[in-house]
Amino acid sequence: MCGIVGYIGPREATEVVVDGLQRLEYRGYDSSGIAVLCDGEFDIRRSVGKLQKLRERLNGEPTYGHQAIGHTRWATHGGVTEANAHPHRSTSGDIVVIQNGIVENYLALKAELTAAGVHWHSQTDTEVIAQLLDREAKASGDFVIGFRRALLRLKGGNAIVAMHRRQPGLIVAARLGNAGAVVVGLGDGENFVASDIPAVLDHTQRMVFLEDHEVALVRADSVSYQQIDGTALDKQAQTVAYDPVAAAKGGYKHFMQKEIFEQPRSITDTLHDRINLEQATVQLDSLRLSDEQLTRIDKIMVVACGTAWHAGLVAKFLIEGLARVRVEVDYGSEFRYRQPILDDRSLLLAITQSGETADTLAGMQVAREQGVPCISLVNAIGSQAARLSDGGVIYLNAGPEISVASTKAFTTMVVGAYLLALKLATLHGRMDKVTMREHLQALLELPGKVGEIVKNTTVYEELAERYRHTNDMLFLGRGINYPTALEGALKLKEISYIHAEGYPAGEMKHGPIALIDEEMPVVCLCPHDDVYDKMVSNVQQVKTRGGEVIVITTEGDTQLREMARTVIEVPATLPWLTPILNTIPLQLLSYYCALRRGTDVDQPRNLAKSVTVE
Ligand code: F6R
Repeated sequence: MCGIVGYIGPREATEVVVDGLQRLEYRGYDSSGIAVLCDGEFDIRRSVGKLQKLRERLNGEPTYGHQAIGHTRWATHGGVTEANAHPHRSTSGDIVVIQNGIVENYLALKAELTAAGVHWHSQTDTEVIAQLLDREAKASGDFVIGFRRALLRLKGGNAIVAMHRRQPGLIVAARLGNAGAVVVGLGDGENFVASDIPAVLDHTQRMVFLEDHEVALVRADSVSYQQIDGTALDKQAQTVAYDPVAAAKGGYKHFMQKEIFEQPRSITDTLHDRINLEQATVQLDSLRLSDEQLTRIDKIMVVACGTAWHAGLVAKFLIEGLARVRVEVDYGSEFRYRQPILDDRSLLLAITQSGETADTLAGMQVAREQGVPCISLVNAIGSQAARLSDGGVIYLNAGPEISVASTKAFTTMVVGAYLLALKLATLHGRMDKVTMREHLQALLELPGKVGEIVKNTTVYEELAERYRHTNDMLFLGRGINYPTALEGALKLKEISYIHAEGYPAGEMKHGPIALIDEEMPVVCLCPHDDVYDKMVSNVQQVKTRGGEVIVITTEGDTQLREMARTVIEVPATLPWLTPILNTIPLQLLSYYCALRRGTDVDQPRNLAKSVTVE
């Protein structure tokens, strides 16, 4: 999704801002732009396509100045054109604005401004902010007051950064609702503003995060904060410990490849300091809810989107199966608009890698409005989801996930959900120490087993070669591996653009079986669990109809070799943990298919890493 970077200080601002935008490339975008304030005028450069295009433009027509704001845009209102790229300037030329999010009432505002004589230069909702801010600044005679007044007129979730050409030395920034983070990076004689930590992490680790309806006035030597009504705010800086080197590709061809391969490490980090094998306990110190409160919970509402929603489905199996606490799972985009039945014994569990997904955050707000406590499984430290979690956060500790397609976040989400399930199982009196120790032991062995799977990629490379012209693929699984099938299909379609469907295998005969012929490879997840025999029947049914079967099963399987074209074996583990081990081959299959088909693996078309709009 869109990226924001602003700089004010002694350096050439363009370099700092464009480098920062480069760090946010992983979020996905289709155009970019920068505005530099120099001698009372804005120099604006914008271009469609990759950031390299903007760099080329800047090489030909350089800009000079010590304060600038830049943006990578992912189109929502208006097509992908240079005119629609940010920054947007008001007609008078006084104001420039960049924005992440959507101005929901922009049509009404636009009509009002048009009636007042404004002429438009783009089709975007962001230009509406620029024109509105221009008018409010003039009416109040003060840029900052005008900024706050303009913000009060906007509906929706927005991260907004602006400058006034007659107010050199000042960048203003605000966060409204859940359109993504606004981070102020504190330097020495220079300051930064950004939509995401990596954009400024090369320059400073001291950061301040804006909350909803907060404004930052950023100058080179100071930053002050206000509520939207003008009340002064005292905000504390946090030291962010991300290592920028960890975000680099480190010898891998793609971030996705690196992130698949680093799963033994990320799972180890999720487990770190949370398991005590000797005492057979799980410690989730970052949960603020007391054991008494957790014991009272009789319903967990999981809210998430995309891959995180698949992790939520696995969480349902784990929590219901191990702790016998009821779990409902919903998409953020659905949950926020229905009338969920929650009460004083309910708990909302948000699952999100970025912690900035608008629909998931909106789901959390719904729960909070009903007095229901929120906890979350989150990867991005200091993200909005983490801050909305009044009941505490279970951080995934997976490190930055750069590739748009989520891999290590999924597996660590499942590990995090497992830890929560075990904790609840103990509190709800559903698990004795001996059984608990078996679970903990299995968790501790998991990283090694994941390491075994990623060691040999030949089979995936062969499959990718065989299926490189395939148009469709079907993924089937049962029980706790039915979400794995959904995740396998999502991964394949999003990065290789092969159409793929995931189904609970028992549903095959209710429709999808009609699709099966020799052109349709079918991936069947057949771990040695209590639905293994049912899966074997499904494999047989596919084979009978001419379909080619790729099986993922437990090491040592002999039965399926007769039926499947390809058998991929993964180490044995507890049935509860099979979604993690079965997902790794599916990630590798998708990765190599995408590689073979020559798609943009890390930044697939039309997708964004963090979906901060509805
Ligand atoms: C798929 C993918 C998306 C995200 C979804 C939620 O590979 O990455 O489906 O899982 O947009 O994102 P988060 O977890 O950041 O809330």
